[in-house]
Amino acid sequence: MKFISISEAMKRGKGKVAVRGWVYRERGSNEFKFIILRDSTNIVQCVLKKDKFKKQWKDIDALQIEASLEIEGIIKKDKRAPTGHEISVDKIHIIGTSNEFPIQKDLNEELLGDRRHLWIRSKKMITIMKIRSSYIQARDEFFKKEKFYRFDAPILQPTQSEGGSTVFEVDYYGKKIYLAQTWQLYAEAAVFGLEKVYNFGPTFRAEKSKTSRHLSEFWMAEAEVAWWKLKEITEFAKKEIKYCIEKVAKECVEELKYLGQDSGKILKIAKKKWPTIKYRDALKILKDKDKINIKFGKDLRTIEEQKLMQHFDTPVVVTHYPREIMAFYKPKDPKKSDEALCFDMLAPGCGLEIVGGSERSLDIKEMSENLKKQGEKPEDYKFYFDLRKYGSVPHSGYGVGIERVLQWICGLESIKDAIAFPRTVTRMNP
Ligand code: 4AD
Ligand code: MG
Repeated sequence: MKFISISEAMKRGKGKVAVRGWVYRERGSNEFKFIILRDSTNIVQCVLKKDKFKKQWKDIDALQIEASLEIEGIIKKDKRAPTGHEISVDKIHIIGTSNEFPIQKDLNEELLGDRRHLWIRSKKMITIMKIRSSYIQARDEFFKKEKFYRFDAPILQPTQSEGGSTVFEVDYYGKKIYLAQTWQLYAEAAVFGLEKVYNFGPTFRAEKSKTSRHLSEFWMAEAEVAWWKLKEITEFAKKEIKYCIEKVAKECVEELKYLGQDSGKILKIAKKKWPTIKYRDALKILKDKDKINIKFGKDLRTIEEQKLMQHFDTPVVVTHYPREIMAFYKPKDPKKSDEALCFDMLAPGCGLEIVGGSERSLDIKEMSENLKKQGEKPEDYKFYFDLRKYGSVPHSGYGVGIERVLQWICGLESIKDAIAFPRTVTRMNP
């Protein structure tokens, strides 16, 4: 018989079916074995009668959680079963046994981390990974509709881009090279040929502090566009995030519900207008509403981003951060030289920075000075400066931290659960 998925079998609702998967729960008695079988689509109750399986009974009786099976049987509706269906099994083929699966209830976070390769079979992790997949597919769809080209950049890069203190160094045939902190510098080279580019790739930051919102390896979803300035790029970033969360809210109703999230609420957020404010306005809100005084020139800390975003029910774009504390390529605003033409997008409630972006400086001298202040050698950025020498045009871009967006829409306490195998300052295994 041809195998079908468990959800397909339940859609049929009656007759003979063949399904396969893993034991999710099991219990036995003298006469029966009840198995809840799981595949990637759903779970279904299966019942095996001892009478029918005289020869195989010893093995069937010994089945434990996470054993893998192929079964054939008659499916019917049954209100008492967890997903409203039961398969009365005629044939069973035990593919892989599983003795004492090392994840029982009540394991602490550290042990679950050690056993991550097995823990990603849990309902919670499968649910999050499905939402992640839905989000990433929606984003590809968005960029295809918007007529962007997908462009890939090297992961091994000769310079830093987002600050030397968080760079990972790799031995490259006896020389130093770094793992990408961003795809951006190469995307800037690409827009002179392709004009509108996007990617999705791993990025690396040696984040030495332990927080619930930082990973050492995370997946950034970036975009870079020739000719566009700050206003156009911020509006476009909103459009992208709106498109993706709307799609996820429609596709993953059950998954979001399982995580305690309301897809209806996400749809409403996607329909609203998302404000753009300046960093100086944000300081004013914090001062007036929260009695928090921050001097212009300081970056917002987590607690301040959280306080600020308690006052909003949609993401907010914050522009014009202090030039002093920004990456070397963020240009100063010609109208206000202590501000940069840059933006972050912060998520409502949790205050997570989900997007960072900017116009790109076209001024080689300005960038060289910024680099020197950071202890970098401008000569190392010759390729990047060349882009400003030969047919330079204004251009802008941004990067979305996919795990941050997932942390927000899935309501996850820690960013670690937004990725299958997290890398943090304290975790590099499995
Ligand atoms: O704000 P960031 O550092 O911006 C850039 O790297 C730009 N070069 C992107 C661009 O303009 N093309 O990073 C972008 C986003 C942040 O807003 C945040 O969502 C996420 O990446 N991010 C992290 N996510 C998880 N762990 C970390 N350590 C992160 N660092 C940044
Ligand atoms: Mg940032």
